[in-house]
Amino acid sequence: MKATALAHPNIALVKYWGKRDDALILPHQSSLSLTLSPLSVTTTVEFGVPTDAVEINGHTSKGSERERVLRLLESVRAQTKDALGPAKVVSRGDFPMAAGLASSAAGFAALAVAGRAAAGLPSDARAASILARLGSGSACRSVEGGFCEWQRGERPDGDDSFAVQRFDAAHWPDLRMVVAVLDRGEKDVKSRDGMKQTVETSPYYPAWVRDAEEEVPRARAHIARRDLQALGELCERNAWRMHSTSLAADPPLCYLNAGTLGLIQHLREHRKKGIPVWFTLDAGPNPVLLTDAANEVAAEALARACGALDVIRCVPGGDAALKQEH
Ligand code: DP6
Repeated sequence: MKATALAHPNIALVKYWGKRDDALILPHQSSLSLTLSPLSVTTTVEFGVPTDAVEINGHTSKGSERERVLRLLESVRAQTKDALGPAKVVSRGDFPMAAGLASSAAGFAALAVAGRAAAGLPSDARAASILARLGSGSACRSVEGGFCEWQRGERPDGDDSFAVQRFDAAHWPDLRMVVAVLDRGEKDVKSRDGMKQTVETSPYYPAWVRDAEEEVPRARAHIARRDLQALGELCERNAWRMHSTSLAADPPLCYLNAGTLGLIQHLREHRKKGIPVWFTLDAGPNPVLLTDAANEVAAEALARACGALDVIRCVPGGDAALKQEH
């Protein structure tokens, strides 16, 4: 009735931006991401307690966050014949939300894996990915490690919309992602609201959907060959296109700030000098730099010279995993 799981966050190389179904969290297009180590979130689920209780990073969870957690567990209950009863959830991340990387993807992936185990359901990456998706779309890509593709699927019930691992973390151990924290503040418009506004009002949105869907197999091919330059160029192109479609929304959505643009300018200068470094950017001002082991120190120095308050150096991470209960 009790289980604990650990999961890593992921960074999208081809982004998910926009839902065709808000309730089931079904995307308009497929996406592709890399799981990041050593960052992680650990979540414990215990069924059969007197009342539902959700604690995240030492605080009692309220509002929509709590609702998302309880809704995911409702789906676990629906999959078992046993009466599981109310649940206690305790989740803790080893990296600050202020890192600019959402811990929610890792949190919901760990919740899905721990929730299924606590309910006595067998280990099943596909089922856990579908479950994690109900908490947050990007979470479905944190159930397995390495490079994962969230296939958009076609079915209205979402049973074919889950992430599959294309390459494990050992496929490209030399790859590095360097998170440059330029701004620790909360973003004004959360991803969930920003993507909805973009779907509803951006005239460029249909082009974004077509393009992103086509970039996924291209990214997969570059990863298969471990072609850093081709993957880096694709990543930047995809990030620019996500931000372009958002800038064209009404009212416009601008997640970049002056610091972001300054860093991008510097990064281009570095590239002219032969340093292989590219960037991607989620719905916030903090770029994540893509490089290799030989250049991660240079990438960190670049981020710091551009005013980064924190820099987190990451390597490809592994699967979400259950931990032994003591
Ligand atoms: C820009 O997965 O956080 O990071 O499904 O509404 O919870 P919800 O959104 P979320 O959005 C992530 C958006 C992104 C791109 C990505 O991770 O693919």
